[in-house]
Amino acid sequence: MNQFQTALDGFSLITPDLIAANSESPDSGYLQQQFIEGRAELAILLALSEQQFQNRLPAADIVHGLTARLSVLRQKLPSSVWQRLAPIAREHAVAAYLLEDPLTRWSFEKPRGYSGDAQLLDFIYEHPSMRPAIEQSSVLGRDLYAYTKQASSSVAVRERRDLLTTKVDAIASERPGDSEILTIAAGHLREADRSRALQDGAISRWVALDQDPLSVGLVARDFAGSAVEAVNGSVRTLLSRAQQLGRFDFIYAAGLYDYLAHNVAVKLTERCLQMLKPGGQFLFANFARDISVEGYMETFMNWELLWRSESEMWSIIRDLPNQDRFEAKVEFGENRNVVYAILQT
Ligand SMILES: C[S@@+](CC[C@H](N)C(=O)[O-])C[C@H]1O[C@@H](n2cnc3c(N)ncnc32)[C@H](O)[C@@H]1O
Repeated sequence: MNQFQTALDGFSLITPDLIAANSESPDSGYLQQQFIEGRAELAILLALSEQQFQNRLPAADIVHGLTARLSVLRQKLPSSVWQRLAPIAREHAVAAYLLEDPLTRWSFEKPRGYSGDAQLLDFIYEHPSMRPAIEQSSVLGRDLYAYTKQASSSVAVRERRDLLTTKVDAIASERPGDSEILTIAAGHLREADRSRALQDGAISRWVALDQDPLSVGLVARDFAGSAVEAVNGSVRTLLSRAQQLGRFDFIYAAGLYDYLAHNVAVKLTERCLQMLKPGGQFLFANFARDISVEGYMETFMNWELLWRSESEMWSIIRDLPNQDRFEAKVEFGENRNVVYAILQT
């Protein structure tokens, strides 16, 4: 996917329309030809999946095959052509079957008005609060969900949550009772549910910041009486210094950089470094490139992200001023679907 020419401000959430508006128009003869060929291939692979649903093949096999074929098609087409094909896929009759999956449907319908809200993540986390929605789904919907919740991206998101719990607990164990944590784009802060350090009072302050007041309200309710402070704020309020949050031993952002253009990502990283105490650590995560599920996510889930390679993560780090202030490393999670940058001051 091409990076945006416009400077996304880190407040306006990325939508498929915004991505389409920023993509190069396929008006050249070559791109037009690619579009015609790509549309024909897409029609065949969607018709095949539709037929498989009609013939009641196992849901997991159908969605597995469809995801793989979409991935191959996406990889061979120029991104501007693929972006024109994604809406065509969504309008195909096969979408009606796929939208029975509560996870795909939530992502597609965007009940909170933007992609990647915390409740969508709760489907991936298999959080108990989502059980009624899953139980109310059709048999086909539950079968599809059994597959999508085990997709490599879902596995990586659960691993990300658990890595963050481990990280917070490790940092808190270095400064028992006196560690301060800032989570940016906290969502429902599910990584705190299993934090021993939080339970044991080893964290003095854990600020959970998010732009969505519903998520902020849920965190305030669920963690009332603990060290967690739910704060309504955004990348923009952080960059404009509208909120004085203090200084922290550990700051991290997961599920946010995937929506930030390079220049905003660099500015936010710099701001986070400024909010660290001496010896503090900043971590940001991003979905990696070429993880085989992008085609399904961008079509039927209508979930557009800025996928980043290892070198794109490094390029955010290298664009920071005063490189001698920190040591950096970039590493993948176990199945390489999420990539992490860690900056140690
Ligand atoms: C994919 S969720 C991730 C939630 C959580 N970090 C997790 O990993 O489960 C993305 C979150 O980012 C928040 N978000 C998106 N853009 C934001 C912005 N510009 N400023 C602050 N929060 C933002 C959304 O409200 C949402 O809760």
